[in-house]
Amino acid sequence: MTALRQDRGATPRRVDVALAGGTGRVGTAFATLLAERAPAVRASGLDLRLVGVARRSRWRWEPHGLPLAAPHDLLGGAPSSGTAEFLARSRAHGSAPLALVDCSASEELACGYAGLLEAGVAVVTPSKLGSAHSQERWNALHALAAGGAAPYRYSATVGAGMPVLSAVRRLRRRGDSLRALRAVLSGSLSAVLCAVQDGAPFSQAVADARERGCTEPHPGDDLSGEDVARKLLILLREAGIGVERADLRVESLVPAGLLRERDPEAFVEALPAFDEAWRARAEAAWSAGRRLAFVAEFDGGRARAEVRALPESDPLASLRPGENRVEILTAEGGAVPLSISGPGAGPEVTAANVLSDLLDAARGAWGARDAGAGRYEAPRERRVASA
Ligand SMILES: NC(=O)c1ccc[n+]([C@@H]2O[C@H](COP(=O)([O-])OP(=O)(O)OC[C@H]3O[C@@H](n4cnc5c(N)ncnc54)[C@H](OP(=O)(O)O)[C@@H]3O)[C@@H](O)[C@H]2O)c1
Repeated sequence: MTALRQDRGATPRRVDVALAGGTGRVGTAFATLLAERAPAVRASGLDLRLVGVARRSRWRWEPHGLPLAAPHDLLGGAPSSGTAEFLARSRAHGSAPLALVDCSASEELACGYAGLLEAGVAVVTPSKLGSAHSQERWNALHALAAGGAAPYRYSATVGAGMPVLSAVRRLRRRGDSLRALRAVLSGSLSAVLCAVQDGAPFSQAVADARERGCTEPHPGDDLSGEDVARKLLILLREAGIGVERADLRVESLVPAGLLRERDPEAFVEALPAFDEAWRARAEAAWSAGRRLAFVAEFDGGRARAEVRALPESDPLASLRPGENRVEILTAEGGAVPLSISGPGAGPEVTAANVLSDLLDAARGAWGARDAGAGRYEAPRERRVASA
C-alpha cells in the first residue's frame, strides 16, 4: 500500500472515481477498503470521491459524490442501463479528473479503455482483458498512457497482491532484459492442485476455491489455463517482449468440450467426472516423490503453461494454497533468479493492489504526463517463437 503522507493545511486534490463491477467480489472489497481508508487518504492530500458505480446492466452517477456505502445498496432502484451508456457518461465527466476502476471481467468495458484514456479518464483495473488481448491493443493503451492522455494501471492482473509487474517494469527501465522466467501464476490452480494432493476430489477442490472467491467469475477460465496464459502475456509484454496468445502452448485441466459450457453452475456440476483422473495423476506424482504445479515458463524464446510434476525440493512445488511465485533470470542478474512470492488470489489482496494503483495515479492527477508509466517503446521485434 502506498504510504499515506500527512499533509496538513493544503486543500486536498479532488479525484473522482467510477467503480465498475462494484457488486462483485473484488469490487465489493475495493469499495469497503476505499470507505475504510478515505479519511487517511484525505488527510494525505487526496479527496477521492465515488461519483459512479456500475454492475452488468445498471449504473448510477452522482457528480457531487455518492456515499461510500456498499455498491449493492447504491444500485438498489437504479434504472436498467447498459455498458455503452456507462462508458459514455464516464467519458463526458468533466468536473474533476476521473478514474474508472474496472473490477469486472467485461470485454465490452475493456474495449472502451482506449476511448476513456483519450477522453482523459484514467483506467485502473485488475481485469486482464485490456492488457492480455492483442499486442496491438496493448501498444495502443500504453502509447496513450505514456503520451500523457491519462494513467493506465493494472498491477493486480498478475499475482493479485504481489509487486510483480512493478519489479519487471523497473528492470526494463534500467535497460536489463528478461532471459527466462518460471512461475506459478494462478492462486486458484495452486489451491486446487494442493487440495487434490492432500486427498480432496478435484471437483470439491474447485468448489472450495470458488467459494473463497479465488477463482475467475467462470472457473473454466482458470481450469482452461487461459487465466495463466493471460498473465504470462502481460508479464512478457511488460518485459518488452512482443507476444500473441497463439505463441503460447497452454495445457487445460479439463477437456475442451466442457470449456464450451458458459454457465458457471453447469460447468461446476460436470467436474466430478474428472475426479478419478486427477486422483490418479496426484498419486503417481506422490509415488515418485513429486508434487503437481501449474507452471508458466519462458525459456529459449518459447513460452508455455502446463501441469508439471516437480521434485518436492523445487520452490514452486512447496507453495501454500493460493500462493504465487515468480522467478526471473535477467541479462544482468547472472544465474540467481529474482524471486517474488506472495498471495496470488483473493478479493481483499486484489482490492488492496487496485487501491495502490489508484493512489499512485491520483497523486499526479495526470497533469501533463503520467509519471508512473514512464517512457513507452513498443516492442521492436517478436521474440517468442510460435507454439
Ligand atoms: N477474485 C480474485 O481473486 C481476482 C484476482 C485478480 C484479478 N481479478 C480480476 O478482478 C475482476 C473481478 O473479479 P471478481 O472475482 O470480483 O468477479 P465477480 O465476483 O464475478 O464480479 C464481477 C462484477 O462485474 C460486474 N459486471 C459484469 N459485466 C459488467 C459490465 N459490463 N459493466 C459493469 N459491471 C459488470 C458484475 O455485475 P453483476 O453482479 O451485475 O453480474 C459483478 O459486479 C476480474 O477481471 C478478475 O479477473 C480477480
